[in-house]
Amino acid sequence: MEKVSAIVIQEHGDPAAVAHCGQIELPPPAAGETRVRVAFSPVNPADINVLEGKYPVRPELPGVPGVEGAGILENGTHVLLPHRFGAWREAGNAPEAALVHVPAGVPLEQAAMLRINPATALCMLREFVSLAPGDWVIQNAANSAVGRCIIQLARHHGWRTINVVRRADIIPELTAAGADAVLIEGATLTADIHAITGKNGARIALNAVGGDSATRIAGALAPGGTIVTYGAMSRQPLRIPNGLLIFQDIAWRGFWVTRWYERATPAQRAALFAELFDLAARGILHTPIEAIYPLTAIATALEHAQRPLRSGKIILRCS
Ligand SMILES: NC(=O)c1ccc[n+]([C@@H]2O[C@H](COP(=O)([O-])OP(=O)(O)OC[C@H]3O[C@@H](n4cnc5c(N)ncnc54)[C@H](OP(=O)(O)O)[C@@H]3O)[C@@H](O)[C@H]2O)c1
Repeated sequence: MEKVSAIVIQEHGDPAAVAHCGQIELPPPAAGETRVRVAFSPVNPADINVLEGKYPVRPELPGVPGVEGAGILENGTHVLLPHRFGAWREAGNAPEAALVHVPAGVPLEQAAMLRINPATALCMLREFVSLAPGDWVIQNAANSAVGRCIIQLARHHGWRTINVVRRADIIPELTAAGADAVLIEGATLTADIHAITGKNGARIALNAVGGDSATRIAGALAPGGTIVTYGAMSRQPLRIPNGLLIFQDIAWRGFWVTRWYERATPAQRAALFAELFDLAARGILHTPIEAIYPLTAIATALEHAQRPLRSGKIILRCS
């Protein structure tokens, strides 16, 4: 048995209090498995929810968290880690069949963040309405990693974005990144969006905040439009006004990328990864990074990841 460094949780609770860096025993790879040295893994909101015990899919306790990441095989091949690998570790064994090879040209840090957020952005923009060049997409939490991917993908395809944020200082950065309009969250948001799109403007809104923000962006949709909820950063429940259902026929849908992967055929998954790798290699998809921490600094990394007003992801260098 080899010993490797890993973040281990014994219980759920305050993330920085329950996540500890220690040593775990790593058996030799079983038949059909291969050894992967983990290079990078981000701290996503889902990881925070896993540590808190609030995410529907989480490791058995004691367990190693880390929803996604990228690693290197002993022959030097770069790979995406499979679901449920537990990425916050120096190394692990993975079924060979579950590994996705990362082509040359995709930086390993970016590869480590492709499976969840960019995939979510791409699938949501494809699966709910058929967008034509010039169409509007409304989103809140526009400064998030998913939000920035939505801006990048929309710009690439010629769709226009209305981006809702909770602070003005980020407006120049998102505008430079390709946002068509950036609006500040508040009571006038629905009217502010209508002033840009007209009452029949947008057919899709992407919601990662919940509460009043979701109600406001849903209210700005064209009749028959769709609001897709994929996150709940405010931790506030949705409030659905009767009129938006009765008179506007707004569809309230949800999206979870884990379910997308479970339902997708191997060919659909391969096509998604090929598209993500191509966009990342060309720099069309790029997730900003604010800081990189070693596994030993897990408490600081978790505290930093939960700080508001970040300008990029917090990622762990695992080996
Ligand atoms: N359903 C799925 O399959 C799926 C997949 C991927 C992600 N997600 C969800 O998508 C969301 C974004 O994930 P991410 O990794 O892109 O996030 P991220 O890069 O860590 O960014 C978090 C964002 O949330 C904003 N925020 C935090 N608290 C907020 C609040 N109370 N009200 C409004 N905005 C708030 C932050 O705004 P500031 O910049 O102003 O601090 C920041 O823009 C999360 O809820 C995540 O769980 C869901």
